[in-house]
Amino acid sequence: MKKDSQKFLVVGGNRLKGKVCVNGSKNASLPILAATLLSEETITVKGVPELQDINTMKDVLTYLGARVTWTGKKIMVDGSDVQSLEISEELMRRMRASNLLLGPLLARFGYVKISYPGGCDIGSRPMDLHLKGLRAMGVVIKEKFGYITAEAPGGLQGTEIHLDLPSVGATENLMTAATLAQGITLIRNVAKEPEIVELQVFLNAMGAKVTGAGTDTIKIEGVSKLNAAEHTVIPDRIEAGTYMVAAAITNGDITLNNVIPLHLEPVMAKLKETGVRLTVNKDAIRVQQDAVRPNAVDIKTMYYPGFPTDMQPQMMALLSLAKGSSIISETIFENRFKHVSELRRMGANIHLEANTAVVKGVANLSGAYVEVSDLRAGAALVLAALAAEEGSVLDGIEHIDRGYEKMEIRYNNLGARIIRVKG
Ligand code: EPZ
Repeated sequence: MKKDSQKFLVVGGNRLKGKVCVNGSKNASLPILAATLLSEETITVKGVPELQDINTMKDVLTYLGARVTWTGKKIMVDGSDVQSLEISEELMRRMRASNLLLGPLLARFGYVKISYPGGCDIGSRPMDLHLKGLRAMGVVIKEKFGYITAEAPGGLQGTEIHLDLPSVGATENLMTAATLAQGITLIRNVAKEPEIVELQVFLNAMGAKVTGAGTDTIKIEGVSKLNAAEHTVIPDRIEAGTYMVAAAITNGDITLNNVIPLHLEPVMAKLKETGVRLTVNKDAIRVQQDAVRPNAVDIKTMYYPGFPTDMQPQMMALLSLAKGSSIISETIFENRFKHVSELRRMGANIHLEANTAVVKGVANLSGAYVEVSDLRAGAALVLAALAAEEGSVLDGIEHIDRGYEKMEIRYNNLGARIIRVKG
């Protein structure tokens, strides 16, 4: 039991039914909010989810001297008076995505100092590709005493960069850095996630010249300044995918509104293989499952448009109940199986070999006291608890609050029975 951590008490067994409106994307909002500092004018971002990670990004922007107003799902950022160009260790440890300020601060001010982001529970999370790309643009980088100091006294130079692997964060930092560089930057082997395309749309709304997002190569033509803009972020494909698994694992019937089906193709393909029925419209998806166990399926997490690593824990919870054995390979992060030990406490039969999990389906999961280690592991444990007949206690749900807005309220509206216990 962790001292004064928040807990969920969950009583499973109900089939979740109803309609839900999916929130704006956390992983689109974070790079976009960081990129608002590229301009000294006021930027308005709408459809932002009310999440702990967004609150942390607000704290980072405020710490740097920006004026941030957040009302409901709208955030306005006035970066005209940014003074500090250093991000404290406390903020960096609170959220790795604070490192997304590297590109914007270097582009606009030519200097930034951040402490190394803490590793987290899913892996070491290095930043070598971010730094290698920035060095190629003429940035002088010193790494000492756990801090990264980056400066480009002569401004950033357009260049050609080939990423060793399609890192989402490195792609985002290099895109934003290049918007105000001198000349043209080509970044090859980039991430192709929808959130990258979304960042391109946002940057171009500010007056940048970015093309190619969603393909293997992004081209950025540097401009002299970026202007005010207003933007509404895309729906959160991982929040949507989590609801879809909730319908599957509780043999329910949930209709998701405010979705972009294209972004959920990899998840829908796998869910169909498990036997779930999907009805797909332009911006809505209905997910139905009868009172049957899912089929076993094999999953290999890959860069987009492969199966998303952020949905791996949730699918493992579902496949813990499958008829037969499933093989889940986690190829993106080296340590994203922290949920396995907790699922085992609920009766799951999972065998780990390096980055592969063999999930032998069981007929039922049982309630238990489990500990949440990271955001998506927490979501997986909520789903497993909703499927278990008895009650469960989930400890450390602060991790869940980072990426799921009022999860207990939104899931209870679908028939779940979750109580939040503070401390
Ligand atoms: C983004 O993290 C997401 N976070 C993650 O979502 C997501 O899991 C991940 O992309 C992969 O899709 C945000 O967008 C805020 P990466 P990011 O750089 O950018 C290695 C969630 O649950 N790597 O694409 O940090 C790295 O170690 C979070 O919402 C390097 O080796 O991910 C990892 O193995 C969790 N060197 C792989 O690349 C680098 O310089 C993918 O990381 C950078 C990354």
